[in-house]
Amino acid sequence: MRSLVSVCLTLFARHAALAASLAAPAPPKVTLDAGTFLGTVDGLAHRFTGIPFAQPPIGDLRLRLPVAPPPYTGTHNATAFGLACTQLPSGPDFPASIASNVTAFFDGMAPPQSGEDCLTINVWTPAGVAPGAKLPVVVWIYGGGFTMGSTGAFNGSAVVSRSVEMGTPVVYVSMNYRLSVFGFLASKEVMDARVGNLGLQDQRLALHWVQKYVHAFAGDPTKVTIWGESAGAVSVAMHLVANRGAAQGLFRGAFMNSGSPLSTGDLTHAQQFYDSVVADTGCAGARDTLQCLREAPFEVLQSAAMALPGLFTPQSLNIPFNPRADGVFITDNPQTLVARGEIADVPFVNGDCDDEGTLFTIQLLNITTEAELRTYLATIYLPGATPAELDDVLRLYPQDPAQGSPFGTGAANALSPQFKRLAAIQGDLIFQAERRFLLAQRAGKQRVFSYLNKRLKATPGLGSAHATDLLNVYGPGDMTDYLVNFVNNLDPNGPGLLHWPAFTEAERQLLTFQDGDVPLAISLDDFRAEGMALFTRLLQATPF
Ligand SMILES: *[C@@H]1O[C@H](CO)[C@@H](O)[C@H](O)[C@H]1NC(C)=O
Ligand SMILES: *[C@@H]1O[C@H](CO)[C@@H](O)[C@H](O)[C@H]1NC(C)=O
Ligand SMILES: *[C@@H]1O[C@H](CO)[C@@H](O)[C@H](O)[C@H]1NC(C)=O
Ligand SMILES: *[C@@H]1O[C@H](CO)[C@@H](O)[C@H](O)[C@H]1NC(C)=O
Repeated sequence: MRSLVSVCLTLFARHAALAASLAAPAPPKVTLDAGTFLGTVDGLAHRFTGIPFAQPPIGDLRLRLPVAPPPYTGTHNATAFGLACTQLPSGPDFPASIASNVTAFFDGMAPPQSGEDCLTINVWTPAGVAPGAKLPVVVWIYGGGFTMGSTGAFNGSAVVSRSVEMGTPVVYVSMNYRLSVFGFLASKEVMDARVGNLGLQDQRLALHWVQKYVHAFAGDPTKVTIWGESAGAVSVAMHLVANRGAAQGLFRGAFMNSGSPLSTGDLTHAQQFYDSVVADTGCAGARDTLQCLREAPFEVLQSAAMALPGLFTPQSLNIPFNPRADGVFITDNPQTLVARGEIADVPFVNGDCDDEGTLFTIQLLNITTEAELRTYLATIYLPGATPAELDDVLRLYPQDPAQGSPFGTGAANALSPQFKRLAAIQGDLIFQAERRFLLAQRAGKQRVFSYLNKRLKATPGLGSAHATDLLNVYGPGDMTDYLVNFVNNLDPNGPGLLHWPAFTEAERQLLTFQDGDVPLAISLDDFRAEGMALFTRLLQATPF
């Protein structure tokens, strides 16, 4: 696998030319300011891709807050995706025993063409609707560990065309945002200069763009749902707590697949990575290291970034580029903000896959003994834990493969003696515990829904792995229908679907996507409670 976003994406859009060749008549067009943008027909939608929503973040705008572009003029083809933002590709190397099988799901796409000048936005709007239709809008934020991903991998027409078939059409928007050192550089210097979390600021500027322009695509700016997966879901969560929870009219609902507010410290928690980039770019002696990085040749900065630990290295999900408290936009540890109620008061969905940790444990198969596992956890994830607390972790997540992840697969999938155990730990530590914390804090105070994806359980080694649920939205599948309903009504329920009850602390009901004859069921969010409570406590005491 090249990148997290490439998961399952053989199904998704790759070449604009494919659809363009089908569109013989005059292309769809839209007017923004004094500019005209020509799109293409794509399924039951009109697609407009590659529209710049910010001034190019290059030159002196590198490592600065994104700046809105001047009013549009002229005529433009909006038929190709813009460049992806600079990527740090590093896929896991699947062991031979599962490679032939999982390759079908997790491989097959070269990293996208990328570069620094990447801030473009795309819109799919139902074909043939009246300009003033005022349709609800869903804005997609891709994942990829804040180091990878791009909009070009996701076919918005899968969602829009399905919404048209359902009779409840929506407009779909996706934006690129800066990644790794370009979007999430963090340090004291970055904090002092107030240029933290630039990737989130890019997303925020794109949300302002939606307010200004989505009416031209028949969208209603008062009916925006923000939606994301993995780092995209964490991003959505950050917008919920940004500005102490003031949504500023930018969205009215949120949908988060496999990502919740993490317990992270402020920007200085990533100082060592900043210092390493400064050293590797020859900026160590500079009076203003940040300015020196702005002036560094692109290739030099990029290769310094490549030297930092990626998702599929031992550092795994404790990634250098997590969003962190910047004192301005994200004012504190996101979980602290949630606990204080400084979170946007909008209905939201937050769910996970059953086996979130497996994909990120493939690269850790050389951890084969309990002693190695213990050292690994104490080093990478739980430096603040006492020996007794580490004992508790190991007791609550035993080596017995029947209790590891992929869950419910007995003795199978034990790729190494600690694989299923560490996969269970990583899944709960980074995904499930955070989801449960968010729900515990907010259920009953705002309308929330939660799900568990147990589909594709038979995937060798990985089970219902991180990102496999994307197949069920961009497929499209039944999750698409729940999403479209939510975007329309702030309630995922609708005709032909199993009723999905709102989550309450008393009932703890999860919509569960399963394999087999009963594809949807309601299950209880009560599993591994002691382990997750311990992780939440440890991570809050010692944030990333
Ligand atoms: C995107 O999805 C639409 C609707 O399902 C489909 O018609 C179109 O072929 C897809 N585009 C690509 C490039 O796969
Ligand atoms: C848009 O693309 C078409 C077909 O490739 C080309 O003929 C036309 O000149 C382009 N228009 C602009 C404004 O670039
Ligand atoms: C992968 O394994 C699953 C479960 O054994 C099987 O159903 C599926 O057909 C396999 N896929 C490929 C591409 O080999
Ligand atoms: C596993 O390999 C990584 C390098 O990929 C190394 O850093 C780590 O120390 C190894 N762990 C063990 C337990 O051998």
